[in-house]
Amino acid sequence: MPVKIAASLMCANLLDLARDIRALERGEVDLLHIDVMDGHFVPNLALSFELAEKVVRNTQVPVDLHLMVARPENFIEAIRRVGPLAVSYHIESTVSPVRLTRTLKAMGIQVGVALNPSTPAEAIRYLVEEVDFALLMTVEPGFAGQKFIPQVLPKIRTVRQMLDSFLKGRAIVVDGNLTPEWAKQCIVAGATVLVAGTSSLFREGADLYTTCRDFRAHVNNVEQQRVSAVSLDLLGSS
Ligand code: DX5
Ligand code: ZN
Repeated sequence: MPVKIAASLMCANLLDLARDIRALERGEVDLLHIDVMDGHFVPNLALSFELAEKVVRNTQVPVDLHLMVARPENFIEAIRRVGPLAVSYHIESTVSPVRLTRTLKAMGIQVGVALNPSTPAEAIRYLVEEVDFALLMTVEPGFAGQKFIPQVLPKIRTVRQMLDSFLKGRAIVVDGNLTPEWAKQCIVAGATVLVAGTSSLFREGADLYTTCRDFRAHVNNVEQQRVSAVSLDLLGSS
């Protein structure tokens, strides 16, 4: 499954968001990642459902909504109005994840469950059959510009095995401080969607179209290395 790049719009130039979205379109990012925060589940506010609605209506790039909110089941109608391709909610934020997942899926939306860095993979054991993907936070949620938490790397492998044990080919999204090096390690561990923020695309003073192309080239290169390593391994085993 080719690795996808999801541009984190909370890191964009919010004073000229339309211009940044045009650059992301030209840079051929796969998704626009919109973080919605409520100041309770995380100590920050980021983008709003209203802004997400406007973004969906002003671009062809699919939108994935990342809900860092307490009680996400309170936002079903807001999510319906946005009409995203995908939405992820945090397992730590709801007492009824199966009902929430099924309600959102019935709306035709791809549904992912997100885990904070210290939440064990076991927490989603009974959701593996329900969700379309998993999102693993590689920083504490709520703020851009934080430092990667390496302990999450083995969790990527564990969640990859859990998802594939039921149905192969589902995405694992990683989110937070994905520099080229951390992105490489996440891909090797089994991640397939990279949330790209200030560590890759939205670097101070850099041209956004250029950073998109550079990051894509890096991701393609990592994937090529993986493919050749697997084929060498296969050759080696003959
Ligand atoms: C963290 C946010 C992400 C990401 C931003 O809560 O969900 O958007 O960390 O990217 P970086 O970490 O590269 O600034
Ligand atoms: Zn996010």
